[in-house]
Amino acid sequence: MKSISLDIKGIKPYVSKEEQEIMEEKVYEAHDMLENKSGLGKNMLGWLSLPENRDEEEIERIKKAADRIKKQADVFIVVGIGGSYLGAKSIIDLLSNSFSNMETLSDRKHPQIIFAGNNMSAKYTKDLIEYIKDKDVAINVISKSGTTLEPAMSFRILRMFLEEKYGISGAAQRIYVTTDKDKGVLHDIAKKNEYEMFVIDDNIGGRYSVLTPVGLLPMAVANIDIEDILDGALFASHVFNQRSIEGNDCYKYALIRNILYQKGKSIEILASYEPSFRYFIEWYKQLFGESEGKDNKGIFPAGVNFTTDLHSMGQFIQSGSRNIFETVINIEIDRTFIKFPETKDDEDKLNYLAGKEIDYINKQAFLGTLDAHISGGVPVMVINMEDLTEYNIGQLIFFFEKACAISGYILGVNPFDQPGVEAYKKNMMNLLNNG
Ligand code: PA5
Repeated sequence: MKSISLDIKGIKPYVSKEEQEIMEEKVYEAHDMLENKSGLGKNMLGWLSLPENRDEEEIERIKKAADRIKKQADVFIVVGIGGSYLGAKSIIDLLSNSFSNMETLSDRKHPQIIFAGNNMSAKYTKDLIEYIKDKDVAINVISKSGTTLEPAMSFRILRMFLEEKYGISGAAQRIYVTTDKDKGVLHDIAKKNEYEMFVIDDNIGGRYSVLTPVGLLPMAVANIDIEDILDGALFASHVFNQRSIEGNDCYKYALIRNILYQKGKSIEILASYEPSFRYFIEWYKQLFGESEGKDNKGIFPAGVNFTTDLHSMGQFIQSGSRNIFETVINIEIDRTFIKFPETKDDEDKLNYLAGKEIDYINKQAFLGTLDAHISGGVPVMVINMEDLTEYNIGQLIFFFEKACAISGYILGVNPFDQPGVEAYKKNMMNLLNNG
């Protein structure tokens, strides 16, 4: 069942029908490049058929590993950076209690999930080791290349911690590795030490890997139904493959964002009214930032959490530089059904809200902001999502991945490489090797 749809009423004052028609052919060319595997980065299209080519045996192995981890650990540490953690983190946040990591193990029903290897902070490292010292720990180290410095450093430290605590063979039972199937330092370490290993296929880049074991193992540990996620993605892979603009909201979104870019709107702000979307927005930023930001081109992907950020970024969005457009993810149905309470004395003068669903109040903030931003010079698209379920999140993930690939091709870049990431690494290595 389709539960993701795009509302483009908020771009009507800014983009004409004719402008859309002129650009349509570019979308079809991009679609054909993906279908015929004839575009830039054509060897990196494995993510497209992932939902279709689901490996049932691997899913079973992931679920078994997750069950083992749940028995072994109070704390499960996911070690990875960029595409090797943002997808899992975002989906776990979306589907968990907002205070999940503070709940007790018996309330949460799975280990506390912590992310590491995504920074080089000495403080973070010290605090982490301090925090886990008396806890039972299992780790999943995720690195496609197997050589990225942040997770590699974190893995060395955590592996030493585990070996000291459980002995070499005890530690080996608690280390799960997700990496390339036959190369890289991490691959070699995993093989030599007989760690349980999961594979990222060669034809899937890090930021497109959330539906591989990279994302699926951590999600399964968090008791997320990974099959529902994949079912949603599978459905989306059909719906968002139509060679049509009218019938394909994913292509429409890619089309509109490129028209807006050509009209000087070079920043896209992804907004949500749910705090749990914070890391989804980070995932989106990486996906589009690394895919499109090259050859001196690209829409700068930014993000905000409303209403929180209406009190920090709202001013700028409303009347700062007019080079931005906004895309809002709107969850249509909220299933919490919490009503705002009434008080007898109405001391705080809020009884005018009494009896209203809190989500209804949040929605009025959304609608009011939508109108204000559109009339303030910000084109706004709305991605409506029926409700927050595994199935719908699977659809949303695929929607953005496909839109990103189409959008990158329209822009004329290779959406599947990231040559710019190497520049800082080279300088840092020079400094580290000569310091
Ligand atoms: O999208 C990408 O390829 C990158 O952002 C990677 O995910 C990130 O750099 C981590 O790389 P690796 O998994 O090789 O450690």
